[in-house]
Amino acid sequence: MPRSSTSVRRSSCPRRPPEPPGPTRLSASTTRPFYASPGLNTETYDVRTAHDLVAQGLDRDVAFYIEEAKRTGGPVLELGGGTGRVSWALAEAGFDVVLLDLSEAMIERAEAKRSAEPGAVSARLRTVRADMSDYALDRRFQLAIAPFRAFMTLVTAEDQRRCLDTTRRHLESGGRLILHLFDPRLDLLVGEGPPNPDRGSVRHPVTGNDVRIAVLSRSVDLLRQVFEERWRFAESTAEGHLVREEEEVLRLRWTYRYEMRHLLELTGFEVEAEFSSFDRSPSVYGREQIWVSRAL
Ligand SMILES: C[S@@+](CC[C@H](N)C(=O)[O-])C[C@H]1O[C@@H](n2cnc3c(N)ncnc32)[C@H](O)[C@@H]1O
Repeated sequence: MPRSSTSVRRSSCPRRPPEPPGPTRLSASTTRPFYASPGLNTETYDVRTAHDLVAQGLDRDVAFYIEEAKRTGGPVLELGGGTGRVSWALAEAGFDVVLLDLSEAMIERAEAKRSAEPGAVSARLRTVRADMSDYALDRRFQLAIAPFRAFMTLVTAEDQRRCLDTTRRHLESGGRLILHLFDPRLDLLVGEGPPNPDRGSVRHPVTGNDVRIAVLSRSVDLLRQVFEERWRFAESTAEGHLVREEEEVLRLRWTYRYEMRHLLELTGFEVEAEFSSFDRSPSVYGREQIWVSRAL
């Protein structure tokens, strides 16, 4: 277990029975889940994400979360905090932060950054291994955030609702929740094949080798609003020798704008603002959903 990392018991809240099988089933796969294990995906997450955020016009997100934290005050809880891309920036900006993530491999990446931080910054960030749909922490927060579509990794409506219920209980009265999802583009979602199989390559931050990324297959469950993609990560030397090849399955649930608003209202939040980008532009079909809500 990494330093300052805590495993959290699951709350005693009973789970409802699983939903019955629907007419469209996702393919069974033996490939490991996204982010769950150490490997090329988690090792290249930061370099890939830095590139992807710029390409998608989302690179102002960290500045946005810092602005919001200045407005609400801390402490801040990051749900699905991953490698600490946002959490460390918040700690550097002076906020106490708890980074919560299900993946030990991602938490290890976040913890690996601790030694580069000054002692006072390091002391402000704690990592916790837990499921964002079922956790119990010993403190409350002024702000909870789920950056870069982390909420979409909850692939049932039930888990989404439990996450919001649990998070509201962890917020001070009047505390804020910020969720970032993509706004579903129906033309992209209905197709079965990968819309863009070649996802390019990045340089591995440690070995300097080329890591090529491809989406091998994609299936869509229109009933449950879930898509599943099989990603391949292949590391090769400059001479073209394959060093490692790994496959992981990404599953995300898309949520429609009014579904999200109603879910927030149902779980005790008042929507204060809804943006389509981190420069606070109003809602636009097919761009982003950035929700700022207040716990009632
Ligand atoms: C796209 S990454 C976002 C990471 C980080 N928020 C960022 O902006 O760079 C999604 C993260 O959510 C985590 N995750 C997925 N399902 C989760 C769950 N049920 N509970 C907590 N974390 C989860 C993954 O391990 C991963 O680190």
